[in-house]
Amino acid sequence: MGQMIVVEDVHKHFGGFHAVDGASLEIAEGSITGLIGPNGAGKTTLFNVIAGVLPPTSGRITMQGEDITGLPPHELFHKGLLRTFQIAHEFHSMSCRENLMMVPGNQSGERLWDTWFGRKRIADEERALRAKADEVLEFLTISHLADHKAGQVSGGQKKLLELGRTMMVDAKIVFLDEVGAGVNRTLLNTIGDAIIQLNKERGYTFVVIEHDMDFIEKLCDPVICMAEGKVLAEGTLAEIKANEHVIEAYLGTGLKNKDKLEETGA
Ligand SMILES: Nc1ncnc2c1ncn2[C@@H]1O[C@H](COP(=O)(O)OP(=O)(O)O)[C@@H](O)[C@H]1O
Ligand SMILES: [Mg+2]
Repeated sequence: MGQMIVVEDVHKHFGGFHAVDGASLEIAEGSITGLIGPNGAGKTTLFNVIAGVLPPTSGRITMQGEDITGLPPHELFHKGLLRTFQIAHEFHSMSCRENLMMVPGNQSGERLWDTWFGRKRIADEERALRAKADEVLEFLTISHLADHKAGQVSGGQKKLLELGRTMMVDAKIVFLDEVGAGVNRTLLNTIGDAIIQLNKERGYTFVVIEHDMDFIEKLCDPVICMAEGKVLAEGTLAEIKANEHVIEAYLGTGLKNKDKLEETGA
């Protein structure tokens, strides 16, 4: 299989600070690639640059061979490149189902439909959208939350909902930034299973930033390790853990991070 994403020598500077400092990596189509590294390594910044949230200072990003450098998030969204975001505060008072139904709509498209096909068409669209949202909720094992306000479900359930939004469109590649943070073990397993299933059944490619090494070990091959804005190593998690540059990078940032690397004891 080919490459879904190729990142070539990307830099992102904030003033004089090089948060991403010449990162190059390739994400294989159909993979679940893990991105690890000590705090401050530049992982989130690199995600934001790839997903069009931040423009790069320099460098090039291609998706299936097409240059996507600097494209805004909504254009990338239509190409099937998605970065999950926390559910915005404005959407907290909407139900979980409604949050999912929001995703594919774009206002100008809705107005066009309105003029072209009239109200019946809108009603049909809405029914189809609702059915799809219900399927997604079922898949994520949170059907019972369909009518609950999104602001009232647990942190882990919100993460599932965020993942669910990627299923309302035809995603090709999904970027997940620390989905496990603050999520209990059971929900984390549900999230992990959903990712694996989406990868196998729908062919989604995933890039996953996560501190939980058990989660990375269960899901990700290969694993890429970043430190100080650069890619240090790539391989299986076992290879990464044995890599002396990686060990040094985690040691250099103190014991807290090193413990994270050793958590699984592999
Ligand atoms: N908007 C910003 N302005 C200035 N510095 C930033 C900004 N965003 C991130 N940084 C800095 O860039 C470095 C990398 O951050 P980040 O990408 O969040 O790392 P990671 O996700 O690997 O923990 C950190 O030192 C952080 O403080
Ligand atoms: Mg981060």
